[in-house]
Amino acid sequence: MQKREWNEMDLTESPLVGVVMGSQSDWDTMQHANRTLDSLEISNEARVISAHRTPDLLEEWIGGARERGMKVIIAGAGMAAHLAGVAAAKTALPVLAVPMPGGALNGVDALYAMVQMPKGIPVGTVAIGRSGAINAALLAASILSLSDDRIAKAYDAFRAEQTRQGEANSIPKDG
Ligand code: RP5
Repeated sequence: MQKREWNEMDLTESPLVGVVMGSQSDWDTMQHANRTLDSLEISNEARVISAHRTPDLLEEWIGGARERGMKVIIAGAGMAAHLAGVAAAKTALPVLAVPMPGGALNGVDALYAMVQMPKGIPVGTVAIGRSGAINAALLAASILSLSDDRIAKAYDAFRAEQTRQGEANSIPKDG
């Protein structure tokens, strides 16, 4: 996997998917979103930007996202988890929210914060943790596949391979 420099705000690159997370501590989980996008050869970038610690940086990044060619935003955050909602408030691009595990409530707080967006500014919330990070990337692929044949083929191939592996599953004879 390519090396990722934290917060190198190179705004000249034009990835299709922007992955943002509230803390470097979220990377253990959020890397699965970027890895999944990498595996489908969907250009992406990862940033650590906090809605409360670095709000100006968030405004700069999300404000320029559409102009740079981004089509989908994935936002991972934990605890009060307002990152996805604030990002969605600043762009009309689809925003997918990944609740981070951890903290006293182990991600349930983040899940509720993200999934309970008041009407008018939607965020699409997925499962807490690694499954959510992977599914957010797959949802991004699905959205992008509506207008990109190469991504549609890659996503279809992923689904077909997953089905093939599922059909090959069996209980070990000595199990
Ligand atoms: C949120 O607070 C982050 O998204 C992270 O999940 C959580 C804890 O952040 P750290 O204290 O680990 O930086 O903003």
